[in-house]
Parts: sequence; C-alpha cells; structure tokens
Amino acid sequence: MSLGIMSAMPEEINSVLNAMTSVSSAVHGNRTFYKGLLYKKPVVLVFSNWGKVAAATTATQLIQSFNIKKLIFTGVAGALQEHLNIGDVVVGKHLYQHDMDARPLYEQFEIPIIKKKFFKTDVSLTKELVKASEAYLQAIPNNLSHTLSSEFGITNPKVFTGGIASGDQFISSIEKIEQFNKNLPDVLCVEMEGAAVAQVCFDYKVCFAIMRTLSDKAKANASIDFQKFAKQVASTYALGILEKILM
Ligand code: ADE
Repeated sequence: MSLGIMSAMPEEINSVLNAMTSVSSAVHGNRTFYKGLLYKKPVVLVFSNWGKVAAATTATQLIQSFNIKKLIFTGVAGALQEHLNIGDVVVGKHLYQHDMDARPLYEQFEIPIIKKKFFKTDVSLTKELVKASEAYLQAIPNNLSHTLSSEFGITNPKVFTGGIASGDQFISSIEKIEQFNKNLPDVLCVEMEGAAVAQVCFDYKVCFAIMRTLSDKAKANASIDFQKFAKQVASTYALGILEKILM
C-alpha cells in the first residue's frame, strides 16, 4: 500500500521527486501523479495546486486511482501567533476551514450537514510526523546552510502541534491575524489547502496527517518572505522530514 504525499509547493515536489526511484507518472485532471519508491517505500506524489478546490480534487483522485490509505500533506504556512518563528514546523491536530460561514443556518466555521467545525488528523500518523519533524529539526545545523539560517533568522527551530486554518486567501495583515486570534485562538498557522484535504480524507476514511513549515508571519511583508522561503528552505524540510518518517 502506497503512502500518498501531497504538496502545494512545486519546490517541495521537485526535491521529493528527485529522491524517488522506479518512477512512473500518470496525468488525471491536470495533475501529474508520480508513483515510485522513496527511501525504498512505495509512495504516490502529487502537486495539489493552490486553494481548497484544487486540493480537494487532487486528494480525491489520489485516493480513488491509487488506492491510498494514508496521506501526508507537506507545505508552508503563515504563523498566527507571536511565539512562532519562521522555520518552525507545525504538525496539525485539527483543521478548520476559516472561510466557511453559513450563518445563520450554521455556526461560523461549521461545515454544513456533517456538523463539524474542524477535522481531526489521524492520531498515530500525526505522532509519527511529530517524531520525524523533531528528529529533523534537531539535525538542522547539518541540513541548512549558515547563510540561509541567518537570512531567515532560523536559529533554534521547534515543532508545535495544534490547529491549522485553511481558506482561499493569502493572509498578510495584522487585522486578519487579530481576527484569527479572537475567533480561532487554538489555530497556530494559516494556509490554503489542508482542511480541504482533511475533509476528503474524512469522507473516504483515509488516515491524514499534515506538517507545515512556517514561511512568514502573515503580516504585510508575508509575500516576500514566502517566495524566498519556498525556493530556498521549504523543499529541504519536506524531504528531510519524509526521510525520517520512511527510513
Ligand atoms: N501559506 C504560506 N503563508 C501563507 C499566508 N500568509 N496565508 C495563506 N497561506 C499561506
């Protein structure tokens, strides 16, 4: 049984793909699915594109066409809390769709019909991901060049577990951060895909876990940090953490 690996960052996909062997590819619905071995374990890797719809269709195809029973999402996110720093890793425990609002029919954030405000990740796969992320970050001085660490201020990166919020918005203002902190105080970071994939995995009974490397602080300069970070750091993290989980 293969592990499904999804990312919304082409940089991450490329670094994982470069480490894969016995690769074959198949195109479905504008996505390329790479089947092969990663550290000798069977995986199917796919770039999800950005946003909840793209992530949901990709996850559905991955599950349906490749018989995936476990899925890991790797990517970057914007930090929503002061104690978090660029280069820290958040492993998700519960995933909100922060732009879901069917009031007055349902409470804010509640997914209609199924009556859930958030989706929980799989407990044991999440534990494995936390362990792998911690092991990777402990060895970070060997994995990240000194120039990059100082450029992004990554000195002592840590792993956090908690809430992740997904929505079809790139967050880059203090006002928005304050809203998140008020309405969803247990959410550590924001991104654009995770909770959509979590909903698909819930519907198909697939074990789901997610790690996000913090690329920015969701403030005015978030887009600058984000692009640089994606190119120079995110891919190293994704591959390094997957190596720890698969070896
Ligand atoms: N992914 C990385 N940073 C983000 C941000 N600030 N908002 C939404 N998604 C992100």
